Amino acid sequence: MTTTSIMHVLGLLLLLTSLAEAVSVCQRRKVVRSFNVRRNASSTSIPLQVGNGNFAFGADVTGLQTFQPYNILSTWGWHNFSLPTTPGQTSIDDFTGLQWWTHDRLVTYNQPNPAQNDISTWLIQNPQRINLGNVGFTFGGANVTETDLQKKAQELDLWSGKLLSSFVYNGTTVDVETWADPDSDTIAIVVDSNLLKAGLGLFFDFPFPDRNKFNAPFVGVWNNTEGHTTSLEQTSPSSATIRHHLGQTTYYVTINWNGHGTVSGPAPGTHRYFFTTTEPKKLHLTATFSPAPEPKTSTLEKIIGTSRNWWASFWSSGAFIDLSANKSPDATELQRRTILSQYLLAINSASNNPPQESGLVNNGWYGKFHLEMNLWNSLPFARWGHFPLLWRSLPGMYSRFLQSSLDRAHQQGYEGARWGKMTDPTGRSAPGEINSLVIWQQPHPMYFAETEYRIFPNSTTLERWDDILTATADFMASFAFYNASTGVYDLGPPMYPVSENTNPNATINPTFELAYWRFGFDVAARWKARQNLSVPTKWLTVRDHLAPLPVVDGTYAVYEGIPGMWTDNATTNDHPAMAGIYGLLPPPASGPPLDENVLRKTAGKIKELWALEESYGWDFAMLAMNSLRLGDAEQAIEYLLDPIFQFDDAGYPVGGSRVPTPYFPNSASLLLAMAMMAGGWDGAEGKHFPKGWEVGVEGFTPSM
Ligand SMILES: *[C@@H]1O[C@H](CO)[C@@H](O)[C@H](O)[C@H]1NC(C)=O
Ligand SMILES: *[C@@H]1O[C@H](CO)[C@@H](O)[C@H](O)[C@H]1NC(C)=O
Ligand SMILES: *[C@@H]1O[C@H](CO)[C@@H](O)[C@H](O)[C@H]1NC(C)=O
Ligand SMILES: *[C@@H]1O[C@H](CO)[C@@H](O)[C@H](O)[C@H]1NC(C)=O
Ligand SMILES: *[C@@H]1O[C@H](CO)[C@@H](O)[C@H](O)[C@H]1NC(C)=O
Ligand SMILES: *[C@@H]1O[C@H](CO)[C@@H](O)[C@H](O)[C@H]1NC(C)=O
Ligand SMILES: *[C@@H]1O[C@H](CO)[C@@H](O)[C@H](O)[C@H]1NC(C)=O
Ligand SMILES: *[C@@H]1O[C@H](CO)[C@@H](O)[C@H](O)[C@H]1NC(C)=O
Ligand SMILES: *[C@@H]1O[C@H](CO)[C@@H](O)[C@H](O)[C@H]1NC(C)=O
Ligand SMILES: *[C@@H]1O[C@H](CO)[C@@H](O)[C@H](O)[C@H]1NC(C)=O
Repeated sequence: MTTTSIMHVLGLLLLLTSLAEAVSVCQRRKVVRSFNVRRNASSTSIPLQVGNGNFAFGADVTGLQTFQPYNILSTWGWHNFSLPTTPGQTSIDDFTGLQWWTHDRLVTYNQPNPAQNDISTWLIQNPQRINLGNVGFTFGGANVTETDLQKKAQELDLWSGKLLSSFVYNGTTVDVETWADPDSDTIAIVVDSNLLKAGLGLFFDFPFPDRNKFNAPFVGVWNNTEGHTTSLEQTSPSSATIRHHLGQTTYYVTINWNGHGTVSGPAPGTHRYFFTTTEPKKLHLTATFSPAPEPKTSTLEKIIGTSRNWWASFWSSGAFIDLSANKSPDATELQRRTILSQYLLAINSASNNPPQESGLVNNGWYGKFHLEMNLWNSLPFARWGHFPLLWRSLPGMYSRFLQSSLDRAHQQGYEGARWGKMTDPTGRSAPGEINSLVIWQQPHPMYFAETEYRIFPNSTTLERWDDILTATADFMASFAFYNASTGVYDLGPPMYPVSENTNPNATINPTFELAYWRFGFDVAARWKARQNLSVPTKWLTVRDHLAPLPVVDGTYAVYEGIPGMWTDNATTNDHPAMAGIYGLLPPPASGPPLDENVLRKTAGKIKELWALEESYGWDFAMLAMNSLRLGDAEQAIEYLLDPIFQFDDAGYPVGGSRVPTPYFPNSASLLLAMAMMAGGWDGAEGKHFPKGWEVGVEGFTPSM
């Protein structure tokens, strides 16, 4: 028996063992519901959300957007401001970028050109993701604020996707249900109150886009009413459509309700429309947001049924961790974060484009998404057995962006496809010094493909990733520079490593990128072998002659020759990516094995000297995974509960001083670390929780 087949048998045995201790649906429901979110007041910074991955609605304490103008964001709602009129900068083709010396030749990088400031800025800021609008209560013309409401109570039921809110106004109770349709970009609202006959109604309002890099917690400009138009068509006593027209962008809100109602407006000088109903007690209303007119929309009953089924099936299928037998606050907090992260990622990050770091809560980086972050953001769907959510964007996104990535590489004199960074749905990467020089997104397709193949080892998987992996490996081989004096292939300069704080013209052979390049070639070669295709020699030549991982004082260094490693606080800052070669990546399948003493000493130095108080997000989960492989589950838990690694009352990941809130890579990386703790990894399959923890797990496969 080969080692691999022994491992397969072992894996099967473990799978059977874990099936034997399956967490029943009933137990899953109990655990999930115990973390239903409850609020008694609006947060002024973070909404509660319902959504479907491509569309999400942020609600205040009323279940709508009555007092806090939270956002309705989607995967399709984007807008361009008009192009500059500056002579010579009126078209995106006028943009030239900048040339930097790269191994004795000039390479053009997609960087802001000071001589072309207007078009450079336009390309960074456009398109930007738009807030589709606001929907809130009106109180019959009275000026009501949140403090005028009594007995405010709100519960988000994770098992059904229902947000239930209630409050009392002027002595009368208002009960509100807010739902999102899993199958369309629709919210469904049920309002139960005697106030309906006293004039309780709704408003719909529409903002103008803005050009801020970060837009939190509210997106859009409400007082610029002249730059855009809206129009209303009441199509029947129980339906109306509002059209919003913003330059090249137009979308529709199709509203349907029970009984007779009226939409009127806009109020003079605004884009605010008002809905009132003649129903005395119970209002059922749906609002569908769509880029094209939507003649057929789902009924409220259907949406509620679909939402219940979708969420029950989401929680009942896929992997599960049950920590409820442990009474320690640490276990309870990890369980809370785990459950809420699953809910929030399904709503905010399961789109047909990669998610932005703030999901569909608010905008960071103009609402664009970062391809280097997509491994963290999307991999949890695979590791937790929710492949259909992963497949919404993968590998389709890579196929869609393949041509522009081939063009990017070609234009720089490389072979293959160079994936972009800060990206919009057309695949264009925003100009930026870091954006154009960061490289760790390149091997991500190999990580995704291999993860998928481990679960679905068949020809469909091989074929759908083959072009993408080939073009990726071609670029990686062509990017590595043969250094005749050392006889090895170097990465950089210029480049930025994962920690984006080094001098790009001096950065050469960073530890993480070298290890990841090797991993990428190993997977690409295996992919060809599995299809009985020949492996391009160039890949193997580069892989087998990659520069060695740089070691300083018995530790892995950020990059080869970095000045003051461990002695200068400028180096012990930002992402400690060296820990990722054992945390995120499996040990190398080719070349020299990792030195465990060096790994341990590196982990120790990071713990001792790294500016973790300024770290953020996935650093902690990456360090936790590194600790797990080094056999220290207690240290892993300590990292996952580090005081800097925070999740708020509703499970939203707090960004901290350097990145916006919410910063969903925190949630995603937490789920990866938990999956590793629950399923182990190749050669160490099974659970890796601290001694004495009683844990039920189901449905995990080992990490690579
Ligand atoms: C914005 O403009 C770019 C460049 O012309 C175009 O590719 C893209 O489709 C536009 N996006 C929107 C939302 O209009
Ligand atoms: C890197 O070198 C290029 C010239 O190739 C220069 O234009 C650029 O300013 C340098 N960047 C830094 C950060 O030193
Ligand atoms: C509504 O009431 C609030 C608080 O009492 C006040 O600040 C605000 O100006 C009022 N708005 C209008 C339109 O009257
Ligand atoms: C707060 O909300 C909960 C339900 O989420 C409710 O049971 C409780 O009565 C509320 N408290 C107050 C002070 O309104
Ligand atoms: C409050 O309710 C009373 C009747 O119960 C009504 O007369 C009054 O107009 C209401 N006030 C407001 C502000 O709606
Ligand atoms: C809108 O409000 C902002 C902030 O209050 C202000 O700076 C801006 O001038 C206003 N714009 C218009 C068109 O009124
Ligand atoms: C491979 O597995 C996927 C996922 O189960 C399935 O959809 C596909 O049909 C399979 N392909 C083959 C050739 O069996
Ligand atoms: C070759 O590698 C050495 C050591 O990393 C480096 O100092 C030198 O600049 C490299 N040569 C070229 C031409 O890049
Ligand atoms: C590759 O070749 C082996 C041995 O000839 C054969 O068993 C296998 O089915 C082939 N696989 C593919 C994907 O063609
Ligand atoms: C490094 O230490 C110096 C002196 O204590 C301090 O002023 C500086 O802010 C620190 N830099 C970083 C990146 O932490």
